[in-house]
Amino acid sequence: MATTTEPDRKFVIVANRLPVRWVDDDRNGDSGHWETSPGGLVSAVRPSVADYGQAGWIGWTGSDVDEEPFVDDGLLLHPVSMTVDEKELFYDGMSNGTLWPLYHDKAVPAEFHRHWWDGYRRINRRYADAAAKVAAEGATVWVHDYQLQLVPGMLRELRPDLRIGFFLHIPFPPPELFVGLPWRDEIALGMLGSDLIGFQTPDAADNFHRLVVRRGLADDSGPGVLAHAGRRVRTRAYPIGIDVARYDQAARTDKVSDHARDLRARLGAPHTVMLGVDRLDYTKGIDVRLRALKELLDDGDINPRQVTMVQVAQPSRDDVEAYITLREEVDRMVGEINGDHGRVGFPVVHYIHQNVDFPELLAMYRAADIMLVTPFRDGMNLVAKEYVAARYDLTGCLVLSEFAGAATELSDALLVNPYDIDGLKAAIARAVAMEPTEARARLEPMRAAVLANDAVDWARGFLADLADR
Ligand code: F6P
Repeated sequence: MATTTEPDRKFVIVANRLPVRWVDDDRNGDSGHWETSPGGLVSAVRPSVADYGQAGWIGWTGSDVDEEPFVDDGLLLHPVSMTVDEKELFYDGMSNGTLWPLYHDKAVPAEFHRHWWDGYRRINRRYADAAAKVAAEGATVWVHDYQLQLVPGMLRELRPDLRIGFFLHIPFPPPELFVGLPWRDEIALGMLGSDLIGFQTPDAADNFHRLVVRRGLADDSGPGVLAHAGRRVRTRAYPIGIDVARYDQAARTDKVSDHARDLRARLGAPHTVMLGVDRLDYTKGIDVRLRALKELLDDGDINPRQVTMVQVAQPSRDDVEAYITLREEVDRMVGEINGDHGRVGFPVVHYIHQNVDFPELLAMYRAADIMLVTPFRDGMNLVAKEYVAARYDLTGCLVLSEFAGAATELSDALLVNPYDIDGLKAAIARAVAMEPTEARARLEPMRAAVLANDAVDWARGFLADLADR
């Protein structure tokens, strides 16, 4: 690894996190290790840099230790540091206590605090300054997600020579909900600093378009085109994809088949394995799926000797109050289900509150007859696509919330409204009883959709439009 301070990068990614994060191994922070950052953003965006010789990535390491920029495999990693207090205001506070719930239909109440907003502005300025320092003359800068919505506007002021794209990985709420945000115009104006703004779904793009026109921040210049400050700003949906080949190819290996077989055996060789894989987040609907399962078991509609559930809940944002409360609730519900319906050595719900590595995850996708993806609202949900990619033999059933962005492309899943517990119970019961011919007929078009738009297609599609003035 080498260091550089030259503004020589022709392509710069700006995202809250670097593609790798620093994890402390002990509480004193004396030792630690680098690992891939959590979430779908990194896995989708990382391959896009391969098309560019001189690329850079600006992001947070996840720790409060100052790190120098370093070059890893040709990619300049430029860490942005935050103190513990700054992280509390910017990340725990404004990003995940205000914007995250507001953009996800207020699954928990969004909090508005002026000191959080001040912290958000300060840290966005830090990312914009870093991008201005690293980007070469006329470079393309691609800014990501709700944590950094002010960066495009700030960067344009600093460096009008740059081509700036912004992609929002989470939903953008309807204007009626967004206008309650005290800093609504500042956020929207920040995004309007871009040349191209990408969203996961046409609805999200439309919500933003209507908002800025209604607020008088931009003029409508036709579908997906806005006029702002003498510039053209385009808005469009670019549904994000996954690295399909990685899942598809690995799933076909003997190693993964053996691993999946072993997993089923360790689960007690049940007739049906159900699976949930999520960050432990209240938007994901982990609680509703447990409630539905409990009622089905209580009513005798599901036999606990035949059906087992594995729920992976990756630890996430564990300094934020709503996440602490959710963890307690999920712990309690799992305990209740297993207490009422499990037997010694055979719990009904196998709950893993840990990160799982790729081979284990893939074995789970292969072992699962039913995949439960039930968010109240989700930008896309890549787990749904990963499951489909791993089911190369067209077996298995995806139960999917109609409020996940993925439902647009995966409309052949068993679609559910996660607020409707009876509907969810009916879908689970239907999935348990589904004939292989129906499962096959549903998976075939879904696989075609996932294969047709992988992560590289997605990034190239966005960047080609960004390059085209
Ligand atoms: O898109 C949602 C998102 O916040 C991404 O920015 C991130 O990759 C993922 O969720 C994980 O969240 P966090 O960075 O807060 O751990």
